[in-house]
Amino acid sequence: MQNSRRKIKTHVMLLSITKYGNPVLRAVSAPVEHVDEAIHALASNMIETMYAANGIGLAAPQVGENLRLVVIDIPEDEEEDNAEPEMATINGELRPIRDIMPLVFINPVLEPYGKEYLFTEGCLSVHNIRANVSRPEFVKATLPQLDGSVLEIDCGGLLARCLQHECDHLEGFLFTDRVSSAAKITLAKKLKKLAQQG
Ligand code: NI
Repeated sequence: MQNSRRKIKTHVMLLSITKYGNPVLRAVSAPVEHVDEAIHALASNMIETMYAANGIGLAAPQVGENLRLVVIDIPEDEEEDNAEPEMATINGELRPIRDIMPLVFINPVLEPYGKEYLFTEGCLSVHNIRANVSRPEFVKATLPQLDGSVLEIDCGGLLARCLQHECDHLEGFLFTDRVSSAAKITLAKKLKKLAQQG
């Protein structure tokens, strides 16, 4: 028999990912003012949507919501047996970033620093395009959590790259805006096609 008063299970739902050309990707997103059930549900659904799409990060505009909410999950490097785990200073302590994955935050404040370097990026909203983007190597980030606590992170590597890419989405920027002018010319045709496909 089932207990009729049991808690109703919240079902996780896959969301459709907004594609290049959709104006929601170009708007500046609003801060999350109040963390309610709807925000918790949106975050859970975004995590599942990101996993289903094999992504390592997803920002709310990518699921059609112009809110300053981001999810990230950077997997451990499985290709190199001897790879050191990626570390970061998290609330003053040096720890593997794996400890804070999946990472969910609202209203982030980023302070990128250090020398810029090129790295190949892609985006779940920009199908079949990868391009080299130059960004600073390190980031200091203040990342408010859904429970009201705040994560202070100082990091490099893939996490620093991913934070910058995802937070760009909150300002209406895409990685294809940040490629070299030569690459922009090369990508122009492909992007036009993507925009037409919607
Ligand atoms: Ni993206």
